Amino acid sequence: MCGIIGYVGRRPATPILIEGLRRLEYRGYDSTGIALVKRGNIAVTKSAGRLSVMEQMADMKAPQTTGIGHTRWATHGAPTDVNAHPHLDSTGRIAVIHNGQFDNDRALRTYLERQGIKCKSETDTEVLAQLINKFYQGDLEQAVRQALSEVSGAYAIAVVCSEEPDVVVAARKGGPLLIGVGKGEHLVASDPAAVLAHTSQVVYMSDGEMARITSDHVSMTTLDAIPVTREVEEVEWSLDEIELGGYEHFMLKEIMEQPGALENCLRGRIHAKDGSVHLGGLVDCTRELTRAKRFILTGCGTAWHAALVGEYLFEELIRTPTETEYASELRYRNPVIDDGTVVIAVSQSGETADTLAALVEAKSRGALTLGVVNAVGSSIARETDAGVFLHVGPEIGVASTKAFTAQVAVLAMMACYLGRRKHLSPSSAMQFIASLARIPQQVSEILGNADEARAVAQKYIEFENWLYLGRGYNYPVALEGALKLKEISYIHAEGLPAAEMKHGPIALIHEGMPVVVIATAGTQYDRILNNIAQVRARGGSVIAIATEGDREIARMAEHVLYVPDTIESLQPLLTVIPLQLIAYHAAVLRGCNVDKPRNLAKSVTVE
Ligand code: M6R
Repeated sequence: MCGIIGYVGRRPATPILIEGLRRLEYRGYDSTGIALVKRGNIAVTKSAGRLSVMEQMADMKAPQTTGIGHTRWATHGAPTDVNAHPHLDSTGRIAVIHNGQFDNDRALRTYLERQGIKCKSETDTEVLAQLINKFYQGDLEQAVRQALSEVSGAYAIAVVCSEEPDVVVAARKGGPLLIGVGKGEHLVASDPAAVLAHTSQVVYMSDGEMARITSDHVSMTTLDAIPVTREVEEVEWSLDEIELGGYEHFMLKEIMEQPGALENCLRGRIHAKDGSVHLGGLVDCTRELTRAKRFILTGCGTAWHAALVGEYLFEELIRTPTETEYASELRYRNPVIDDGTVVIAVSQSGETADTLAALVEAKSRGALTLGVVNAVGSSIARETDAGVFLHVGPEIGVASTKAFTAQVAVLAMMACYLGRRKHLSPSSAMQFIASLARIPQQVSEILGNADEARAVAQKYIEFENWLYLGRGYNYPVALEGALKLKEISYIHAEGLPAAEMKHGPIALIHEGMPVVVIATAGTQYDRILNNIAQVRARGGSVIAIATEGDREIARMAEHVLYVPDTIESLQPLLTVIPLQLIAYHAAVLRGCNVDKPRNLAKSVTVE
């Protein structure tokens, strides 16, 4: 989604803004722009298309030391040069960049038109720039505050004014924003990745807050002008983690990183010796959690698939009713949620608008809320009562990979942690934790045979429709495999619980059609072999994901990709790996932009 970077300091701003925008590219965008301020003048350079287009137009040697930059993902108006941010007011003294959407921009536009003020672009952002100018009487912060009191909707904004060239004003309500604290300089950004090359010290702004930022000083207030104080925090991520480090794509880097990422996620939390789990983030609410009458796991996309695995784990290990809900549905239904319900939001970015809104709704109905989040300091992490971080470092590729495995690992740890306080026996917990401890090494073994997945992708690359089938714990993995394939290679793929196939989708199967079946050892094995036979009988080509040593399956499937043996409830952590690799290679073979798939954004901060 859109990205914000701002700089005020002593160095020329342009290279810093461009570099920041490059770090934000992964979030998805369709136009970019910067505004540089000096007394009496704001110079805007912006264009539709990739950052490199705008970069060529920008004056890298411009002396201005204050500026703002933006990557836009079109909502109000097409991705054109005119609609790209920053937006100036009609006098040209105010420039605004904005993530989010205003709901009442049409009414405000009409109001401005009646006053003879006409907007050039179709964006809601320009409306705000005009309003700020209208209220401006020598104090930018005050004018922004007044203008924001007129708009409704979600936003994170940064504003500059040619009459106060050493000031950036930032505000947030429903969109992430942080201030990077440097020596004699400050940055403002929607994502820590944009400031990390300059500082790892940040102040996370909370919803409903504003900041007036100069090179030496930051003053923060609520939108109602009440002063607030926020701690400076250290961003855990290193610069290496947001760079390709020799890989061709972030997605491949993040797939290959999974053994290490999972080690980090599990480190210090599980103890194979006695099967115990320590989750510091849950200590204060453990009593409430063990007394919960019901869990609702919620999220979107891949996070929702991880949550679905979590549902199976919670029911099996904790024996408390658990449901998984799409956050986009949960937020608008009239769900039965009370103080006996615990709602767990699963999100890599911690900024997904639907997940955040579902959480706020659940909280207002009395639920205890937990987060399973990767991005420390994100909105969901701050909004929840408690939670467990993934600790897998930044995920840059739009296709979520290491976040999925870590989300499942965290939910597995939570299930065991709470299960032990309810019905789970010490010996079952020991077996579970010993198996979980082996997972990073087992993922590494699968990645050692990554070429097989490439061969499968190559063989079926011409097919426009794929099916993914799984049962039990591997049903969510079938959904995840299909999502991975479609989002980056644009091949249509459907994931199904294998038994559902005969209720309709079996009609799709034709000669040679690739059908990926997760057929690992366990309670569902015989049933899934029947499903394979049904696919074969209709001419489908079966690509099986099977447990090492299973020779029977090789007689039934065109291809077998083996994964090491583990307990059934942890199989998703292994079976998803070959599916991530198939999707990656299919996208590369089709010449798709793997890390920046069309129409997609890394974190979906609008509805
Ligand atoms: O940041 P989140 O985990 O909340 O994001 C949720 C989804 O938008 C995300 O998983 C999306 O489905 C990915 N593109 C999947 O690869």
